[in-house]
Amino acid sequence: MAIESDAPTSLYARHGDAADANYPIATAERDGQQIPKTDSHGYSIREQPMGTLRPLRAILMGAGASTLNFLKKAEEQMEDLKITVYEKNHDVGGTWLENRYPGCACDIPSANYQFMWKKKVWTHFYSYSPEIWRYLKDVEEENNFIEKYIKLRHQIEKVEWDDGAGVWRVRTKNLETGEVKEDEAEFFINAGGVLNEWKWPDIPGLRDFKGKLMHSAAYEEGYPLKGKKVAVIGAGSSGVQIVAKIQKEVEKLYHWVRSPIWITAGFAQTWAGKDGANFEYSKEQRMLMESNPKVYLEYIKQIENELNQRFKFIIKGSAEADAARQFSYDQMERKLRSNPRLVDKMIPKNFNPGCRRPTPAPGYLEALVSDNTTVFTDPIGRITERGFMDHEGIEHDVDVIICATGFNTSWIPRFPFMAHGQDLRDIWGGGHNVTPYLSIGIPTFPNHFSFCGPYGPLGHGSFMPLIERWTQYIFDVIRKAQVENVKSFTPRLDVSLQFRRHADLFLRRTAWTSPCRSWFKQGKSDGQAAIYPGSRLHFLELLKAPRYEDYEIKYWDDNRFAFLGNGFEMREFDGRDITNYLGCLDDEGRDVQPVYGEELMHKLAGWALEDEKETENGAVYGAADGTANGAVNGAVNGAVNGATNGATNGTMNGNGVKE
Ligand SMILES: Cc1cc2nc3c(=O)[nH]c(=O)nc-3n(C[C@H](O)[C@H](O)[C@H](O)COP(=O)(O)OP(=O)(O)OC[C@H]3O[C@@H](n4cnc5c(N)ncnc54)[C@H](O)[C@@H]3O)c2cc1C
Ligand SMILES: NC(=O)c1ccc[n+]([C@@H]2O[C@H](COP(=O)([O-])OP(=O)(O)OC[C@H]3O[C@@H](n4cnc5c(N)ncnc54)[C@H](OP(=O)(O)O)[C@@H]3O)[C@@H](O)[C@H]2O)c1
Repeated sequence: MAIESDAPTSLYARHGDAADANYPIATAERDGQQIPKTDSHGYSIREQPMGTLRPLRAILMGAGASTLNFLKKAEEQMEDLKITVYEKNHDVGGTWLENRYPGCACDIPSANYQFMWKKKVWTHFYSYSPEIWRYLKDVEEENNFIEKYIKLRHQIEKVEWDDGAGVWRVRTKNLETGEVKEDEAEFFINAGGVLNEWKWPDIPGLRDFKGKLMHSAAYEEGYPLKGKKVAVIGAGSSGVQIVAKIQKEVEKLYHWVRSPIWITAGFAQTWAGKDGANFEYSKEQRMLMESNPKVYLEYIKQIENELNQRFKFIIKGSAEADAARQFSYDQMERKLRSNPRLVDKMIPKNFNPGCRRPTPAPGYLEALVSDNTTVFTDPIGRITERGFMDHEGIEHDVDVIICATGFNTSWIPRFPFMAHGQDLRDIWGGGHNVTPYLSIGIPTFPNHFSFCGPYGPLGHGSFMPLIERWTQYIFDVIRKAQVENVKSFTPRLDVSLQFRRHADLFLRRTAWTSPCRSWFKQGKSDGQAAIYPGSRLHFLELLKAPRYEDYEIKYWDDNRFAFLGNGFEMREFDGRDITNYLGCLDDEGRDVQPVYGEELMHKLAGWALEDEKETENGAVYGAADGTANGAVNGAVNGAVNGATNGATNGTMNGNGVKE
């Protein structure tokens, strides 16, 4: 029947929606009938199964832990995704390649600072930087990632979204040759690290110093300090680790703690050495973990359990906050007692532990009150050629100055980062202007994700599970773009502002907004606290799946349902299990179509009962005369054509069809 009407026959029928309308449309013959190829709008069925993947490209900035996880999981889970990674360094590893100062270690127990798909038994409870880097390098080497995806010594210098083409245009510089090139991809992913741009302190005369000057994040590994006079500026996580490590070997140590800090107990103290100290696993402990994966997992989970409790002490006024304060106060007062000036100046009075990132450092407080250490709580006067001038104008000679003065954590990109004619540096520049989408995206910037952007869960626990979750989230979005022919996903500005409003109000009830100087607040005491408003568990739950309602989605097709295609689903052709919704049979849990034999049919089919009755001498699936090779279950003599399981006595063909 033809439908010819401009007037809808129901609320939902619209002009031209019927496939057999009387319009001059191309037709094709099917089964003796003329079937329209297009409708009156020129819409035609895409002749492909739903689930066909559009080949896409992704460019990642940086080859640290985030990207290595992305690459590994992409190889397992993604198809038709061409990945290119630009890394400015000479090797992979990011943080753990760059930070090689004495004592540099993770302060999260190593068992919890690793990918759950590559568990290793570590040498120490808190592992040192070289071992962590080796672990990441192993991931790269085992998978040949440099050869396949990573362009080393290539720095990204500019990125710009081209809305017409639906691609990011990425300008890179080869740091060896100086050659500048442009690349493009549908997705641009920032895995450039939140703690990657280290910064010198703003101290007069810094460049005048004629001795050895190093930053903790660009440290000359192994530089000899024995018997030398050393100044360590900075008392964040890096500074405290350095001081604790070198105090005993240097002749004289000068150190500045210009702002009060809480020196807290180590993370997961219950499992650490005495007094929260690091320790080397014994042979027996290592064997236990190595030989029994379930025990090792339980150990990891118990530690994580403890780490996951830490959010409670961030909440102002909570019993846990009071307990953490009391515990840290007692510990600091006890260890610094011999120096009342330090007790007075160092122990914070107007903020609780957690305001700054906790700095556990076994041995640090002891080092501060040692005979060879001088601690200044006033700012340095200036740096001189031979050393430094203290706040009273007295000059001190030193051989080495180590600046453990942290990173640029302003969230402002280091290069032009443009979309729709606007540069993120301008949008986010200026105080309190940083407004991301759930830490993973940037409003009005299409097809872009960040590993650990602002308002991410930076304050407690290991990055690794977060990296795994961010990766999964990004894959979900890219896969949807591939399947549904999406041009762009753009986080909505109104939604991002709502998230920001919620976060800013919630954060007022956390220690993160107390008046401490912290890199969470760009090194200021009244900076924008760009931290996730909740626990890690809260964040992991939120990012379990993309909230597409928060995105503006543009499709390449006029009809967004063009991806429904020819009515078949891709898994009907590609070897995946076509009954997966009932559960999968594969021993390794893979989604693959089982090779069904006939054994079960011979046992459970109704006709099998009939056959059985007719069978003589108790043969299971019908013993027969003749020649049979390869019958698996049951004796077979006779003609058997390709039946896989069971003797068939010539009654079944190779496809398991009863003839
Ligand atoms: C000293 C130190 C100790 C830490 N300890 C812990 C810990 O105990 N537990 C924990 O959870 N986290 C810790 N962190 C945080 C740590 O940074 C993360 O855990 C994790 O390593 C981040 O990995 P990433 O790949 O996201 O970034 P990164 O490791 O920072 O890697 C970023 C990469 O991007 C590259 N890059 C940046 N810009 C460009 C560009 N324009 N062009 C090309 N390449 C670029 C960099 O060269 C770098 O290789 C620590 C950080 C530091 C600095
Ligand atoms: N897992 C680990 O063990 C570990 C180790 C290192 C780093 N990290 C990560 O990296 C982050 C950054 O740590 P970080 O220690 O490198 O940097 P940070 O926490 O930002 O600390 C920088 C320190 O330098 C001081 N400083 C800066 N300029 C100074 C100046 N002109 N004079 C005197 N002091 C000055 C700061 O003092 P003010 O506070 O007064 O500004 C602060 O104490 C950590 O919070 C952590 O997330 C982790």
